[in-house]
This record gives sequence, structure tokens and C-alpha cells, in this order.
Amino acid sequence: MPRKKIALIGGGQVGGNIALLAAQKELGDIVIIDIPEAESFVKGKALDISQLLPHDGFDCKITGSSDFKAIKNSDVVVITAGFPRQPGMNREDLLNKNLSIMTNVANEVKTHAPDAFVIVVSNPLDAMVYSFYKVSGFKKNKVVGMAGALDSARFRSFIATETNLSSQDVICMVLGGHGDTMVPVSRLASVGGVPLTALLDKEKINEIEERTRFGGGEIVKLLGKGSAFYAPAQSSVEMIESFIRDKKRVIPCASLCEGEFGIDGYFIGVPTVIGCNGVEKILTFELNSAEKNALDNTLTEVKKTVQETGL
Ligand code: 2OP
Repeated sequence: MPRKKIALIGGGQVGGNIALLAAQKELGDIVIIDIPEAESFVKGKALDISQLLPHDGFDCKITGSSDFKAIKNSDVVVITAGFPRQPGMNREDLLNKNLSIMTNVANEVKTHAPDAFVIVVSNPLDAMVYSFYKVSGFKKNKVVGMAGALDSARFRSFIATETNLSSQDVICMVLGGHGDTMVPVSRLASVGGVPLTALLDKEKINEIEERTRFGGGEIVKLLGKGSAFYAPAQSSVEMIESFIRDKKRVIPCASLCEGEFGIDGYFIGVPTVIGCNGVEKILTFELNSAEKNALDNTLTEVKKTVQETGL
């Protein structure tokens, strides 16, 4: 079987770390694309990563380019291109800056990799994935946004810290938009099958939920420059791997809802099955009334940002 091909649009901190982590899982050949001014930089990153692979005996070809023709025949395209958040900015402030970049990228991907499975990472996520979908005309199973995987990993790590139990045994999900209104579903969280509500009191759980909702902002503030990149990269790699290896993992992703959870026509974080056909299914379940209200609230925010795109 020939190796899969992964195109990374944007060779910044997130793109570079996706390249590293995907290569270390030997997921396929990787091409990193950036603007002409950054071509030499991404060629350097590609070469550097290529040179660490012999230690593990992994074989993937990693290249850098500013020419979109290099993404031809890609199986997966991951878009991280765009400006990152700076301190004091929310994800929505980025909209205008990143919309024109996304429009250009969508047209290039449509021309050069029309059959790829596309994972959008750029912020504001819910509006960027919607913009890619609208501009490219790709089928809905071929377009998804990476957000819930990251927000759930943050939720998971906070639960592990507060319970002093292994993060490996924490199962939890965060639904909704990738913003301050996201919905950590504590009612369904568990550690090794034991409900979180039996392990921590309500006050502590509320604190963890709040920290999760502002998890990206906490890192922006601490870094002082730019936003998180290690966990976003690993979350993207989990999604790439589920597609390439047809694992059919259930990952909270920004998927196009057409009736699921009563949402219609918007990409929003919902439990999504990712396999070799891309977004294969959205899993639905009964929400309680507080969760329903929280999902309505996050949907209102997502709609606002999406409507600002004018698409
Ligand atoms: C975050 O939440 C970059 O949006 C990303 O850190």
C-alpha cells in the first residue's frame, strides 16, 4: 500500500508540531506549505524533522514548499494558516484577519487536492471551518474542524490533576463552539468508569469547567506571545490518525450538523466518528435541560461569528 500523503497548510508552531508528531507515528509523507517569505523556513523545519526519524527507524518523506502544487494527491490537508491570538484578543477578533487567508487556501485546496479530507485548525475555528466548506464546495464528510479534541483533552487533564488519577482513565467531552461558551459535559465524565460527580464536589467541577472554557486564553496569557501549539498539534494528529488508520474513533469535532442536537447548517463541536470516509457519523444522545440551554447559548455565539463572514 503506498504511503498516505499529509499536507499541512501553515508551517508555524502548530503546523511544525503536527509534522513532528505525525512523522513520529509514521502516518505518511508530509508536505508543509507556507507563504513565499517563509518557504526557506519550512524547508528547514522539514529537513530538521527528517533528520530525527532515523533514530526511531521511521520512514516518511517530509518537504516544505510555498507552491500549492506540492499538495497534489494529498489524502489529508490540515489548515493551520492564519494569525494566532495575542493577549487581549479573543478568537473572534481574528475573524477578518484570517477570513481572506482561508478563502485563498480553500480555492487552492479545491484546485490541487479536491479529494482530500480537510481538518481546519485556524481560528476562529467555527467560522473558519464553515468558510472553508462554503468556498471549497467540498462534501460535508470531507470537512471538519479541530477544537473539541483539544478542549476535551484540556478538560481531561484538569480532571486528572484534580482527582490525582491517571489522565489515561479519564473519559469526557466538550461540545459546542471553540470559544468561551463551549460546553464541558461533566455529567458524562468519568475516571475508569466512576462518574466524576462521585469523585469531586460540585464546586470543584464548576472550577474545572470554567478553566476548560478559558483553557486557550490561559495559555495565551502565560506565553505572552502567540497561542498554544503542543496540545493543538497532538489533537490534530489524533484526528489524522483516526482517518488514515480507519480507527473510527469518537472525537468531539466541529462537524456540519443537519438536525443533530436540533442544530441545522452550522459546524459545531459534537461527538464525531472519524474513519476512512472522513466524518462518518455524528453520535447524538439526550441532553438535560441545563446542557440544552448551554448548547443553545454556544450556538448563538457560533452563528454570530459565522454570519460575520458574510458567506
Ligand atoms: C487554543 O485553544 C489555539 O485555539 C487554540 O489554544
